[in-house]
Amino acid sequence: MLYSEKVMDHFMNPRNVGKIDDADGVGEVGNAKCGDIMKIYIKVDNNIITDVKFNTFGCGSAIASSSMATEMIKGKSLDDALELTNKAVAEALDGLPAHKMHCSVLAEEAIKAAIDDYKEKHKDN
Ligand code: FES
Ligand code: FES
Repeated sequence: MLYSEKVMDHFMNPRNVGKIDDADGVGEVGNAKCGDIMKIYIKVDNNIITDVKFNTFGCGSAIASSSMATEMIKGKSLDDALELTNKAVAEALDGLPAHKMHCSVLAEEAIKAAIDDYKEKHKDN
């Protein structure tokens, strides 16, 4: 079996899909390798990520990685979320095939972009 049960589960029933209209930070990244796109929205309160949603126009592994990554950063501090690596996401999914590792990079980068966006917008307070 190419994909773990966890990957299949997060692909078939992705968590935290959607958009946050009054998001505090938004990150959008494209994957240079395949052209897929991921957008992540975060709500932040007192440096804690209180809510997160994502939209991914991409393959199953990208969807599963985003779903898992959003679960991993919800309730975490911004600093902790910044430390989330695509490797940790892939491990939490019980592994991804080697040629699909680049899909999980999208989740890591989109989260970093959303946090950067938040910091950029809130640097004066
Ligand atoms: Fe086909 Fe990413 S290259 S979904
Ligand atoms: Fe490109 Fe998965 S094939 S994100």
